[in-house]
Amino acid sequence: ALISLRQLLDHAAEHGYGVPAFNVNNLEQMRAIMEAADRTDSPVIVQASAGARKYAGAPFLRHLILAAIEEFPHIPVVMHQDHGTSPAVCQRSIQLGFSSVMMDGSLKDDGKTPADYDYNVDVTRRTVEMAHACGVSVEGELGCLGSLETGQAGEEDGVGAEGTLSHDQLLTDPEEAAAFVAATHVDALAIAIGTSHGAYKFTRPPTGDTLSIARIRQIHERIPNTHLVMHGSSSVPQEWLEIINEHGGRIPETYGVPVEEIVEGIKHGVRKVNIDTDLRLASTGAVRRFLAHNPAEFDPRKYLKETVAAMRDVCVARFEAFGTAGNA
Ligand code: G3H
Ligand code: 13P
Ligand code: NA
Ligand code: ZN
Repeated sequence: ALISLRQLLDHAAEHGYGVPAFNVNNLEQMRAIMEAADRTDSPVIVQASAGARKYAGAPFLRHLILAAIEEFPHIPVVMHQDHGTSPAVCQRSIQLGFSSVMMDGSLKDDGKTPADYDYNVDVTRRTVEMAHACGVSVEGELGCLGSLETGQAGEEDGVGAEGTLSHDQLLTDPEEAAAFVAATHVDALAIAIGTSHGAYKFTRPPTGDTLSIARIRQIHERIPNTHLVMHGSSSVPQEWLEIINEHGGRIPETYGVPVEEIVEGIKHGVRKVNIDTDLRLASTGAVRRFLAHNPAEFDPRKYLKETVAAMRDVCVARFEAFGTAGNA
């Protein structure tokens, strides 16, 4: 059944678990997520970015998610729009039937230039007014996502600020977060606490202080009724990097956010955990390995089936680690 983000995260807060929000662009990702949810009895957040809409087309994306709900009627599903760049984009998603939208007013509508606080409040407040009138939840974002190690926002072609960010910009201010929530009434707030988008988050193996858990705790204490969201939460599994590189790939050494640190964040108020890169790595590794071992195969179903299995295993692991399992 389709449910709103607010409904799901209120339940998650009450029971102390987190929910991975997986990005979806195609049938294989959708199947992987739902099969994992079915196996672990987990509620689901599927999110579609502007890039996903461009790739699959809005009607295909919409029906892909509706098809998942039809095939798995016992699984609660939130249909969420990731990184909306304007109230108009969010309005379009509401019309399409999404039960939750993200208005990312931390950046201007080019998705690159850091926006000022007043702009962020204005676009977010207007989106909340529109969405809440339709029973749709809203996620906002305050602060600029970026790696505490590199000061970089991540992905070159995706959402994220350009240039190097200062330490100040990289951590959401708790007082400003409280004022922002009071002014906008968002249901969930994405905060900057050290994560960045994409596969290139950290250049060195993590030593346990990738995230600022102290900052998560301070923000949660200040706005306990607002569900916290962590973007850029892929763990960049080293085993998948190896499989890719052993079968013709060439991805340089890189590290993500350790699952144990995300679990620590969940203990301090993080409820929605955005993951895209990990499924991209698993599916690419699965295709490379299958084709390297089966050079005469040419039926796409053969190698795409491998991607479903690979992505499903990642989803199962996250549902179990975040405590989502058993809560459908
Ligand atoms: O926030 C970024 C997500 O990973 C979506 O990426 O814009 O390439 O679809 P995308
Ligand atoms: P990753 O690139 O770490 O998977 O983050 C995805 C994300 O934040 C989508 O909004
Ligand atoms: Na989002
Ligand atoms: Zn994001």
